[in-house]
Amino acid sequence: MDIKVRVWRQAGPAADGKMVTYDVKDISADASFLEMLDVLNEQLILDGDDPIAFDHDCREGICGMCSMVIDGTPHGPERATTTCQLHMRHFNDGDVIDVEPWRAAAFPVVKDLVVDRTAFDRIIQAGGYISAPTGTAPDAHAMPIPKKDADAAFEAATCIGCGACVAACPNGSAMLFTAAKVAHLGLMPQGQPERDTRVLDMLQAQDDAGFGGCTNMGECTTVCPKGIPLTLIGRLNSDYRKAVTRKS
Ligand code: SF4
Ligand code: FES
Repeated sequence: MDIKVRVWRQAGPAADGKMVTYDVKDISADASFLEMLDVLNEQLILDGDDPIAFDHDCREGICGMCSMVIDGTPHGPERATTTCQLHMRHFNDGDVIDVEPWRAAAFPVVKDLVVDRTAFDRIIQAGGYISAPTGTAPDAHAMPIPKKDADAAFEAATCIGCGACVAACPNGSAMLFTAAKVAHLGLMPQGQPERDTRVLDMLQAQDDAGFGGCTNMGECTTVCPKGIPLTLIGRLNSDYRKAVTRKS
């Protein structure tokens, strides 16, 4: 298939950016979106142009690195799919596809499609850990955990920290990410000692990093490649209220 891509090019954090149009010819419908960009970059290098900078690592939907907005939607048009798992068969021959970086004040552009997501690291550093010694893997059923809690914790733990929720939110809020991280530890017995300080410190770090507040728009969960549910934000707010009450 032959397509055109209009890609955000920005030489550096302080440079002005603009959309630049490229023709990409003879792309296999089975190629991933990133492979299509690889082909375009080979073409740009052969032409003596600067290749497009974009983040990627696992290309298996695990690492959360492949942050780009495709035709206005973080991670593109397929639900529950990271950019690296998106294939060209979901587009049509002759399409013109817009590709932009995450747009959020807390995720400044580094170059082209690469943004600085260390703000997420600061939220994790503030409370995304447990202090209970865990040792080696325990015997099965040594610590009884209700199945519904184990399932809910596992679901929350599938958040890959990609930042699509922030990019989709009109407020640039990181609440879905923080809610997932607070829930996946707070649902387990090992996560109880820091349960209150975790939610207070992670929300403080989120505010300090410049993320916006949540107004229940729900755009975040719609684009989340792991289907993290909005109900976890309700759980986060409940944990926050209890922590504030216990602290005062
Ligand atoms: S909640 Fe979903 S969209 Fe947000 S960082 Fe986690 S996986 Fe990505
Ligand atoms: S490159 Fe790892 S999730 Fe896409």
